[in-house]
Amino acid sequence: MAETPTNPGPDWIPLCRLDAIGIGRARYVEAANRPLCVVRLGENDAAVFDDACPHAGGPLSGGHVEDGCLVCPLHQWPFRLADGVCADTTAFRVRKYPSRVRDGTVEMAMPDVK
Ligand code: FES
Repeated sequence: MAETPTNPGPDWIPLCRLDAIGIGRARYVEAANRPLCVVRLGENDAAVFDDACPHAGGPLSGGHVEDGCLVCPLHQWPFRLADGVCADTTAFRVRKYPSRVRDGTVEMAMPDVK
């Protein structure tokens, strides 16, 4: 009888300690050859986005959380934490990566190389 292959799931990349970020604040990190923005959402929760704002390339890691959105520091466009879509101009979206917090470290799933 043939064995059923198991899906090993994604490879996880450690990004930073969660407690190095204030709740509602963001931090810049580089991983998987890309600039990233790690946002601390709560005591044990985080989200990971591309750092470059899709409007004009502003550093989202310099932004802040407000009303469920990450607000860009350059022109204050709000990107929804849930999916990265701009709440004001839905044609714009910042890429959000699968992430988790494990033993106090924020990790992201290795993105597809495309
Ligand atoms: S560069 Fe982010 S809102 Fe303009």
